[in-house]
Amino acid sequence: MKNVEFHNGNTMPQIGLGVFRVEDGEGCKDAVAHAIVNGYRSIDTAMIYKNEESVGEGIKEGMKHADIERSDLFITSKLWLDDFGRGNVEDAYNTSLEKLDLDYLDLYLIHWPGTDEELMIETWHEMEHLYNNDKVKNIGVNNFNISHLERLSQKTDVKPVINQVEFHPYLVQSELKLYLESRKIIMESWSPLMNAQILDDETIKEIAQEVNKTPAQVVIRWNIENGLVTIPKSVTPERIEENIDVFDFSLSDAQVNRINALNKDQRIGSDPAKFNGKK
Ligand SMILES: NC(=O)c1ccc[n+]([C@@H]2O[C@H](COP(=O)([O-])OP(=O)(O)OC[C@H]3O[C@@H](n4cnc5c(N)ncnc54)[C@H](OP(=O)(O)O)[C@@H]3O)[C@@H](O)[C@H]2O)c1
Repeated sequence: MKNVEFHNGNTMPQIGLGVFRVEDGEGCKDAVAHAIVNGYRSIDTAMIYKNEESVGEGIKEGMKHADIERSDLFITSKLWLDDFGRGNVEDAYNTSLEKLDLDYLDLYLIHWPGTDEELMIETWHEMEHLYNNDKVKNIGVNNFNISHLERLSQKTDVKPVINQVEFHPYLVQSELKLYLESRKIIMESWSPLMNAQILDDETIKEIAQEVNKTPAQVVIRWNIENGLVTIPKSVTPERIEENIDVFDFSLSDAQVNRINALNKDQRIGSDPAKFNGKK
């Protein structure tokens, strides 16, 4: 497993398991445990996924079977928009910890910027407080555009380590990617497989044949070649194993460029400039 390094010197595994739309319960617990036993060291959940309890159980189960310590894992959760504002963030963080049955998170993220800039800044100050008081190892954001990040850098002190955004071959976000690189903020892809839609793309299938890997492995490897962190979701044991089995091959520059060229600026999720949590 490769790690990326944040601007604060901490590191994060380049591949993790995403658990969005995985119902709280045995299936979620089993997926998380299966991932850890099969080499995953990073899990991405959120308060709003309503599965932190079974993610926590899966973490315990996985640690036991893989014979590893909590410090070997990198656990992420996210702050929802309802918990924005002074006095709310630490409570929300503690509730997530309680559900996960953990003492700390490796990464706590603002889930969306929302449409109230002042509230977003106030909320980031609360995130900074958690970080400066050593309650959380790293803080970051999701779904921030360049303008959100600019406002943050003008008004706050601690730079986010990461920005988790929708990213797949039909949405390559080149301008944002260059901006993040210039500011040493890691880019992380959500819905890297475009919710499985990208697996039917002819170019992806063609490249999969060329390298003798599956379409999912090609897309995940393309994330790695691009220096991103990625968190493909699966509850299927074979796919969980398949999605991390991407370190025994590489894509040529030409293949990477063929995938980059598939961009259509096509989103499957909400527009970060407009989303306020209500849909
Ligand atoms: N920050 C945000 O706002 C935000 C938004 C969306 C998602 N996320 C994060 O990003 C993670 C991933 O995104 P996502 O869940 O939307 O979608 P995704 O990872 O792009 O795709 C998941 C879908 O692909 C299928 N799949 C996975 N591996 C496969 C393989 N090897 N072959 C064929 N099909 C495969 C899964 O099916 P099975 O599960 O049935 O195997 C599932 O239907 C989420 O779980 C969440 O952690 C964050």
